[in-house]
Amino acid sequence: QKTYLSDGKLIEWKGETAEIYSTISSTEDYKPTLLGTIPQLGEKEALEVLNSALTAYNKGQGLWPTMKVVDRIACMEKFVNQMKTKREEIVKLLMWEIGKNLPDSQKEFDRTVDYIYDTIEAYKQIDRDSAKFEKNEGVYAHIRRGPIGVVLCLGPYNYPLNETFTLLIPALIMGNPVIFKPAKLGVLLISPLLEAFQNSFPKGVVNVIYGRGRVLATPIMQSGKIDVLALIGNSKSANALQSQHPKGNRLRMVLGLEAKNPAIVLPDADLDLTVDECIAGTLSFNGQRCTALKLVYVHESIVDEFNKRFAAKVDTLKFGNPWESGVKLTPLPEVEKPGYIKDLITDALSKGAKILNKKGGEMTENFIYPAVLYPVNKDMDVFNEEQFGPVIPVIPFEDIEEPLHDMAESNYGQQVSLFGKNIYTLSPLIDTLVNLVCRVNLNSSCQRGPDVYPFTGRKDSAYSTLSVHDALRSFSIRTFVASKDN
Ligand code: G3H
Repeated sequence: QKTYLSDGKLIEWKGETAEIYSTISSTEDYKPTLLGTIPQLGEKEALEVLNSALTAYNKGQGLWPTMKVVDRIACMEKFVNQMKTKREEIVKLLMWEIGKNLPDSQKEFDRTVDYIYDTIEAYKQIDRDSAKFEKNEGVYAHIRRGPIGVVLCLGPYNYPLNETFTLLIPALIMGNPVIFKPAKLGVLLISPLLEAFQNSFPKGVVNVIYGRGRVLATPIMQSGKIDVLALIGNSKSANALQSQHPKGNRLRMVLGLEAKNPAIVLPDADLDLTVDECIAGTLSFNGQRCTALKLVYVHESIVDEFNKRFAAKVDTLKFGNPWESGVKLTPLPEVEKPGYIKDLITDALSKGAKILNKKGGEMTENFIYPAVLYPVNKDMDVFNEEQFGPVIPVIPFEDIEEPLHDMAESNYGQQVSLFGKNIYTLSPLIDTLVNLVCRVNLNSSCQRGPDVYPFTGRKDSAYSTLSVHDALRSFSIRTFVASKDN
């Protein structure tokens, strides 16, 4: 991959490049696999794409923001039709670049395609609604939604296609030109789409750049000319970028950030179901999901039985390469992650926790087997940090006020999973929990989908809301024509 997309042109890059490796080895003796190279663009190119997007927007008078709804939809349909032909190639890259297993890689691709179609339908509905009038106090209003301006879009490595596109697609369809820098990992899989972007959208509407975030995003942010920062990632990066914007808080932001979602297992929980859901919640994609369960609180009356069943089940999960059948645990794409998880385990052990499962903490070059740690307390790093990997802290509780207090104190507030049967216990608890997080999952693990539901969080977990419909609102402004006659 030597090209990038700027001002409607696929530009062959002759300067510095970076090699992209997979932590998956293609040889018997472990050696990371070289997958390709990407351009390392500089400040000059960053400012060029900024200019290209600004020209495409032209203060709201450009071709894209003024284009008829039906024509903008036609561009999007052209894009998604071409994207569908790249399924095999992109699924393969998802497996090699980020180690996502085959079914989940296919799901990520298909879910993204569905998301685009759902967005088109939701946009058509907005358009239909804008044809209606409403009347208040003798004033008729014809309410519409219009674009905001230029969007800088940065996505995460764990869903480099799906999550990034849940920003990119709604931003585009609402008439905003976009500057898109793919994540550090999961970057090559965007290359098969460059031509589709180029020939589906007018020039300057989609710009794709590669390189170090610091080098590229800094001049763009410092220009003060970006209207929306759209990022799924961590709050540290979001804060750093926001602080570079000269107009400070007047920057619009659409942010999906960290989470430390807990499971709370009540004494009357169905343990078989709870164990299965907690396995899926903690270890799907090795726990590398913002929606993963990252703390498991279990009532002390059932914690021994829960631990026994849970630890035994963790040890049955198969580790292997992403394309192998039945594989649940796969190589970790970040080279430093196994060492980081090992440090969390060592810290917890030194403070009194034990590893409950036989294989917990076993390491290979690119993987560390999930460790179930018990009992975990607040002094341990694994309690406080977003581990984003295969280590599961189990915390016993006597009184429900204990996990509730921790949630209230936490910097995060995305979701919770609540396991129990008695509706008279659950009901008041749900009323409390919805004020601490944004989604309460009853007897099921945390997740983002279905994508029509609001995906957001309190405190450091999010800013703005992403669902098919909410994202269209997040990337647009409500405008209207008022008149005294209809
Ligand atoms: O990393 C966070 C993703 O939004 C998780 O999505 O719950 O569908 O795996 P998911």
